[in-house]
Amino acid sequence: MMKEQTRLIRSQAAKSACREHSVPLYLTSSFTFEDAQQGAAIFAGELEANVYSRFSNPNTSEFVRKVCELEGADEGVAFASGMAAVYASFASFLRAGDHVIACRSVFGSSIQLLARFLPRWSVNTTFVDALDPGGWETEIRPQTKMIFLETPSNPGLELVDLDWLGRLKDRYPHIILNVDNCFATPYLQKPLDYGIDIVSHSATKYMDGQGRVLGGVVVGKRELISEVKFFARHTGGAMSPFNAWILSKSLETLPIRMDRHCSNAHAVATMIENHRGVESVRYPFLASHPQHELAKRQMRLGGGVVTFVVKGGLAGAQRFLNSLKMISLTANLGDSRSIATHPASTTHCRLSAEEQQKIGINPGSIRISVGLEDIYDIINDISLALDNV
Ligand SMILES: Cc1ncc(COP(=O)(O)O)c(C=O)c1O
Repeated sequence: MMKEQTRLIRSQAAKSACREHSVPLYLTSSFTFEDAQQGAAIFAGELEANVYSRFSNPNTSEFVRKVCELEGADEGVAFASGMAAVYASFASFLRAGDHVIACRSVFGSSIQLLARFLPRWSVNTTFVDALDPGGWETEIRPQTKMIFLETPSNPGLELVDLDWLGRLKDRYPHIILNVDNCFATPYLQKPLDYGIDIVSHSATKYMDGQGRVLGGVVVGKRELISEVKFFARHTGGAMSPFNAWILSKSLETLPIRMDRHCSNAHAVATMIENHRGVESVRYPFLASHPQHELAKRQMRLGGGVVTFVVKGGLAGAQRFLNSLKMISLTANLGDSRSIATHPASTTHCRLSAEEQQKIGINPGSIRISVGLEDIYDIINDISLALDNV
């Protein structure tokens, strides 16, 4: 069998009659039938073929195939955004009366889904702390249907032990383990290897890698993904062929991009740790990270995000951000351009100060998505801005 990187690059949509080398963009809403009998056979499920781009399209299928190669998944479904994927990963399985256990530190919109929308359909969630896994099992009830988490979390970079979680499944086989693997990417971490059932992603981040398009994907075991496919087909959150075309091409370079994101981020974290303008820094591959050993066990490298607390609280954070000369101020991450974000006043501003504190955000917290620029320029920009704090 060919190696992962080769399979990633070489798993492509079949060549068209034009014998192109690079896969073309299939901008079409529907696909034709050779004759009436073929149309009937496809609809009867006797023949597998593209029918309509809400169900499947050569570009979205190629994108999904590549993600499956990386994650080690049987099958997957592509969505218009990461949140459409996360929502589908809930709605495909949860019914009135079901209970969910979710890590408190999951992405803000995932919290809104779990805390505000799902209760309308009588699905309730208990939020638990990443750093207190012992407390998770005591929250399991007969109605618990799903456990949902991110590791590393955003922006606190807290980890959950995937091996421990997979072993929990031995005792509770009916609970669906659902991991949002957006921050790590499947190049750095493969939750399915530990017995996790489904993995969801915002492809908008590192899978695109250049801040151009939105996308999401859910992958996992065949029997579970067939439920997600059914949900997706009838609710319509499909990824556009154009976005799939972009994302599919980007995935071919994900491993080499992640290697550079991680080495740049590690260098930034090391510099920040020694700067007098900083109170504390979090990066999974720094020895000072409280779960450093776990990070080394389940992640290939430390990831592209560094979170730190500047001295001087909100005023210090604002002075730092306003002193940056090159790094962009925006709320996205996973871009080739380095990005600085102030979670307390932007991405996580809907949370109360107490809720923010519980997931490791305080007024002086800064999240840097370390890009692919020359490391000298990234470090120079950050350290000069820190001098002004
Ligand atoms: C961990 C995580 N999951 C999901 C999402 C949502 O993705 P999208 O913005 O593509 O809908 C994000 C977006 O920032 C994220 O960081």
